[in-house]
Amino acid sequence: MIGVFDSGYGGLTILKEMQKYLPDYDYLYLGDNARAPYGSRSFDIVYDFTLQAVKALFKRGCPLVILACNTASAKALRSIQQNDLPLIDPTKRVLGIIRPTVECLPEITRSGHIGLIATPGTVNSHSYRMELEKMHPSMTITEYACPMFVPLVENNEADSPGADYFVKKYIDGIMAIDPDIDTLVLGCTHYPLLSAKIKKYLPPHVNILAQGEIVADSLADYLRRHPEMDERCSRMGTTEFLTTENPEKFNILASLFLGKSVEAERISLPS
Ligand code: DGL
Repeated sequence: MIGVFDSGYGGLTILKEMQKYLPDYDYLYLGDNARAPYGSRSFDIVYDFTLQAVKALFKRGCPLVILACNTASAKALRSIQQNDLPLIDPTKRVLGIIRPTVECLPEITRSGHIGLIATPGTVNSHSYRMELEKMHPSMTITEYACPMFVPLVENNEADSPGADYFVKKYIDGIMAIDPDIDTLVLGCTHYPLLSAKIKKYLPPHVNILAQGEIVADSLADYLRRHPEMDERCSRMGTTEFLTTENPEKFNILASLFLGKSVEAERISLPS
């Protein structure tokens, strides 16, 4: 199975696109809902929690794990790849979602002015800025934290009038810093659930870049380039769900994200 990890429900927006692009593969989704959100947690805590989740997915047979969470990709990916994987099992792989997102920006922007909205953790890590400076040094990026977005989504308030207040406030905030932004990256996997409202308050010429399709496309490309990993990924078209919270609660909200019913199993971390 291909492991897909997020702090909560947000990674389901990535999983949904993976299932569309690569429907034959088997997926094991893990949401650490009991400890979400990760967005305001410190570097060390996000790293510890993410490593525990990766180990749990490895233990259940995943040779490849996608961190479908920007906060975990920003704060834990590099250490896991460089320090932990060689000790745990050098044949397994953990991939993040920030690099593939930054890679595709030249196809979308004309002004070269990029806006990033994300959790405080992702923004403070400056992972997007660092990747952009490496890959596309002529572009500029404005990073803007939206701490209320994940709680709105996790509490099923994404369509409420309360969400309008915060979406308008954050969109006005980032556009006031750089009015030349023509591409807004939704740098948190929860945010596609707010995209209708984000669109409503953004100037119409600004493109919204959500990560689901980009990550699914980059996973397909990775599997093509790594046939030895591709062979290890089973293909029966199944998806299983694990959560660290109450599974009934997970099933209700996850079904809204995916548009179909879901049966999760509860696990504890570390497991
Ligand atoms: N969905 C996660 C992300 O992409 C973070 C949500 C959280 O704060 O836990 O950053």
